[in-house]
Amino acid sequence: MTQHLLILGGTTEASALARLVAERGLQATFSYAGRVDNPKPQPLPTRTGGFGGPDGLARYIHDNAVTHVIDATHPFAAQMSWNAAKACEMTGARLAALTRPAWQPQTGDNWQSVPDIDVAIAALEGPPKRVMLALGRLHMDAFAAQPQHHYILRLVDQPEAPPALPSHTVTVARGPFDVANDTALFKAHAVDVVVCKNAGGTGAIAKLHAARALGLPVIMIDRPELPIRPECATPAEILEWVSDHPATDLGV
Ligand SMILES: NC(=O)c1ccc[n+]([C@@H]2O[C@H](COP(=O)([O-])OP(=O)(O)OC[C@H]3O[C@@H](n4cnc5c(N)ncnc54)[C@H](OP(=O)(O)O)[C@@H]3O)[C@@H](O)[C@H]2O)c1
Repeated sequence: MTQHLLILGGTTEASALARLVAERGLQATFSYAGRVDNPKPQPLPTRTGGFGGPDGLARYIHDNAVTHVIDATHPFAAQMSWNAAKACEMTGARLAALTRPAWQPQTGDNWQSVPDIDVAIAALEGPPKRVMLALGRLHMDAFAAQPQHHYILRLVDQPEAPPALPSHTVTVARGPFDVANDTALFKAHAVDVVVCKNAGGTGAIAKLHAARALGLPVIMIDRPELPIRPECATPAEILEWVSDHPATDLGV
């Protein structure tokens, strides 16, 4: 059976995988959720937008004869990961994830680990501070529950509607980020505390180095629960896994 990879993307690692897959000339499609304006062009045929839940993804897999789904989404994109697991179970397509280890605190770090956004918000109880929210736009409005702070928001695109936070500054930037720029950003905005997700990987780690260098506390949101599936740490390992796991006979 001819193999056809579906790469669920939206991360630096997914783009690295797409480059390797294109170099090797494998048949593959790259999928974006469509959350950001002008997503990074990929060297593979690309589709954009949700599939319509696990059923929609199963239909897509069937209609496009996808043999291998590679979940290279962000570790906080849990819905997509669970949908991929269900759709692959339904269709018999193979599933593996391209993952990165969670960040671990280093000497000099001052982290408060919290299980989710709600606890991160509760952890900001107290006098006004200047809070760096490195979280993306989806969850920022919830921080209006702690309206005493000034929030510095780093977003991929300028928001269409102003954030619901009474006092804030928006900076528009797209990763990967570097330590010198993040340190300068934190200094320029007189940041007191950083709130971020434990994404792992290299694309967004600069803020942690910057926080350590400046002695800033970090409220670190732990990862959500993800389905159990084969995991690979690098694009090359994914391709080895593909060649070790030929397509099954699909039949939805
Ligand atoms: N969450 C983060 O912190 C974060 C950070 C950086 C990048 N990203 C990237 O941004 C995208 C969206 O993240 P999220 O946290 O909003 O995801 P999510 O909550 O897990 O997914 C919500 C829905 O968005 C659609 N979707 C997500 N990823 C998709 C993809 N690669 N291709 C097609 N549809 C996709 C699916 O819609 P249907 O159910 O309709 O199929 C999914 O059910 C992902 O590609 C992720 O890798 C997320």
